[in-house]
Amino acid sequence: MSNIVRFGVSIDENLIDKFDKLIAEENYTNRSEAIRDLIRESLVKKEWLSSTEIAGAITLVYDHYKRGLLEELTQTQHDYHDTIISTQHIHLNSNNCLEVIIVRGSSQEVVKLADRLKSLKGVKHSALTMTTTGTDLY
Ligand code: NI
Repeated sequence: MSNIVRFGVSIDENLIDKFDKLIAEENYTNRSEAIRDLIRESLVKKEWLSSTEIAGAITLVYDHYKRGLLEELTQTQHDYHDTIISTQHIHLNSNNCLEVIIVRGSSQEVVKLADRLKSLKGVKHSALTMTTTGTDLY
């Protein structure tokens, strides 16, 4: 376990008032954890721009009746078998499917995969959530 460092921050009163209101809405009980989260978020965003390994999830909603789509989805996922850790498929209703694809790899590779899936005809919505593997965060 690493040492804890305490430091003072000079900040405009209006700004810290707004910050306190914001973090109260987000259920933080004190400023310290909110500030630690902001620092972690900055570090995670930096990871996305580097070639560091990241983790993430790609969410797709698509019409499984769309001709050729299932084959394209399967082939794309096979092409990225090194990046994809797990896939969960949910039948939302009679024609729409929800697929959540958990990924790990370089951010460039993950974005390429997400873009390829998003551009397939019949995919109605897709979202990529990138996070960290947590290795360099405390
Ligand atoms: Ni389905």
